[in-house]
Amino acid sequence: MQKRIQVNQLRVGMFVEDVELGGYGDATRSEPFLIRSNSDVRRIMASPVKSVVINVAKGIDLDRNPAPQGEDAASYKARLLMVFTPQEIGRARQSIREIDPYLRQVLSDARLQACFADGPASTAVERIMSASLENAGALIAVAKLKEKDEVTFLHSLAVSALMVTLGRSLGHSEDEIRLLGLGGLVHDLGKMTLSDDILTKTGKLTAKEMELVRQHPQLGYEMVSRAGTAPKEVLDICRYHHERYDGGGYPGGLSGRKIPYVARLAAICDVYEALTTIRPYKRAFTQTEAINMMMNSPGHFDAKLLSAFVSRMVISGTIH
Ligand SMILES: [Fe+2]
Repeated sequence: MQKRIQVNQLRVGMFVEDVELGGYGDATRSEPFLIRSNSDVRRIMASPVKSVVINVAKGIDLDRNPAPQGEDAASYKARLLMVFTPQEIGRARQSIREIDPYLRQVLSDARLQACFADGPASTAVERIMSASLENAGALIAVAKLKEKDEVTFLHSLAVSALMVTLGRSLGHSEDEIRLLGLGGLVHDLGKMTLSDDILTKTGKLTAKEMELVRQHPQLGYEMVSRAGTAPKEVLDICRYHHERYDGGGYPGGLSGRKIPYVARLAAICDVYEALTTIRPYKRAFTQTEAINMMMNSPGHFDAKLLSAFVSRMVISGTIH
């Protein structure tokens, strides 16, 4: 029996009858082959192929893939030590400690005075840029583990580092990368105006609370605008990082390329970071699970940019 699957669903042991370049049905002839190794999977994912037809009589079936299990803090810490040396982890932790006072200032000014501390934000971004240049993988990996009081701080830092690293992988200039990093750092600043009750609520939000949460992109945009120093790209990230490519997002309901490019990048980095964040006693999605979920969420993201994120950040081994 034959099945058509997306390339991100490919696994070692599958037997590929056909590969397809564009939308479903846009087939290009190729000799049938067996996926023998992860490098076969990476090669196909890095190519223009969008979907493949597998023969489940000759290879493994899609359904044999495990359901998302996630991982807890202990298993993640063990895995961290398999990927990075203790020195690399120590350097990443040191970088986070150095960024800490500047980013905490940005968050507390937003919280207490509803204003944007542009000076400390710029310093934080410079440090994130240099730490990412040194070892982005370790920095982003260490920031995944979040204690309760570190969630906003480390999410902002990690999204900024992801934006900087993705920007570099896409060939942007250092000035452009600085804007991406600053946008990532302040994308959720509007959330600092919400009450603690809403921010720390673990249960389902009421409709009224959800309505308040959905105001944070606009509130963040207004707060950062008032400082009068932030470039348009940074404001666009604040305001539009919850837009969806199919127009189903908020606050503007913008679709496709009407969503600023930088905000389409931010949407990918923001969701990836949120899905893979590990908290004490709470399992998180693994990188593979998170990417599978994002690639199987049609209409949410700019597909071309998501595939660039997967090939340049994930398959390349830049982030773990
Ligand atoms: Fe947000």
